[in-house]
Amino acid sequence: MSQGLPTLDALEVAGQRVLLRLDLNVPLRDGEITDTTRIDAALPTIRQLREAGARVVICSHLGRPRSKRIPALSLEPVAAKLAELLDDEVVFAHDVVGDDVEFLSRDIPPGGVLVLENLRFDPGEKANDDDFAGKLARLGDVYVNDAFGTMHRAHASVVGVVSRFDHVAIGPLVDREITALSKLLEGPARPFIGVLGGAKVSDKIEVIESLLHRVDALVVGGAMAYTFLAAQDTPVGDSLVERERIRLAGRLLERCAARGVQVFLPTDHVVAESPESEEVQTVRAIEPGWKGFDIGPETVRRFSEIISRSSTVFWNGPMGMFEDPRFAEGTRGVARAVAEAEAYTVVGGGDSAAALHQCGYADQVSHLSTGGGASLEFIQGKELPGIRALRRRT
Ligand code: 3PG
Repeated sequence: MSQGLPTLDALEVAGQRVLLRLDLNVPLRDGEITDTTRIDAALPTIRQLREAGARVVICSHLGRPRSKRIPALSLEPVAAKLAELLDDEVVFAHDVVGDDVEFLSRDIPPGGVLVLENLRFDPGEKANDDDFAGKLARLGDVYVNDAFGTMHRAHASVVGVVSRFDHVAIGPLVDREITALSKLLEGPARPFIGVLGGAKVSDKIEVIESLLHRVDALVVGGAMAYTFLAAQDTPVGDSLVERERIRLAGRLLERCAARGVQVFLPTDHVVAESPESEEVQTVRAIEPGWKGFDIGPETVRRFSEIISRSSTVFWNGPMGMFEDPRFAEGTRGVARAVAEAEAYTVVGGGDSAAALHQCGYADQVSHLSTGGGASLEFIQGKELPGIRALRRRT
């Protein structure tokens, strides 16, 4: 047991078909996997099960196909990548459930691996449909959830299926994630700072509302910073501002001030007239006609200093449009500061994780979460539906 949840070590898996829920939702471009982080993170679990003689039936979603069979979102390339990384045969089922898939699941030998087609091709997955959960459950004798990135979704493979098994467990990845993220909730070393970025305030409102009760300071970058700056009447030129959120941003700043939580916003910016423009400038005040696409070097220095003085750091969201190298220095600078900090550092979210990987700092943080939305919900103190479902079985 870990955190009140049954773990894989306590499960008898030899000869058993293990229905293994993974989060293999990897980014794809033209059919090519552009980042294998989530596959790499799942490999130790798959290897552990194979070595224990389990017959491994892997299920995952990929993208958001809206319950339709979209060839570009097939899990087949992921199954091929798994075969390459495991250096062994991996059988791919071209359907999610059904008689043929059930036959395949019964046919795999101990140590063998079967990968099902994208769960979200079936409308029953997102609907947490009982009938679909029943069909899925027929593909395994025991159930293991090691899909931390999907624990916040009340879908059939995460929730509905759980009550159909007598023996269930969390996998080692979920165990590590819960242990690492719980440290942010249970008496984190202080000062504790939250570093938030990304495009929209609206995506992060709940996180900010929850963090302002937990942190000593908030550092805000990315396009969402412009809405906060606009709330303080700082000129932001033509930068992306969520006009309808300016008042809310102002209220959040007031609530932070009332609780003594310092909020650090950018003081200089990398600007252009549009992302396509050739001319890029670094300015303190953004003139009309110009838009901010990254935090400037002075802001990177300030943010880095704040990070270096903290004892616990949670970072989610890029500081600018970092996919364009001209606007990547802010995110790279924050990634460096987080990596070099002596603090307990946790990074969540695909973009921040990608930035850490790009800069070669991925193994220099205390915990790099495989969850985006899931890690954000977890650190708000919410019980994730997947965890609740497993807890009910104990
Ligand atoms: C993620 O990428 O955060 C998870 O795989 C969940 O995907 P979703 O946001 O499409 O449910």
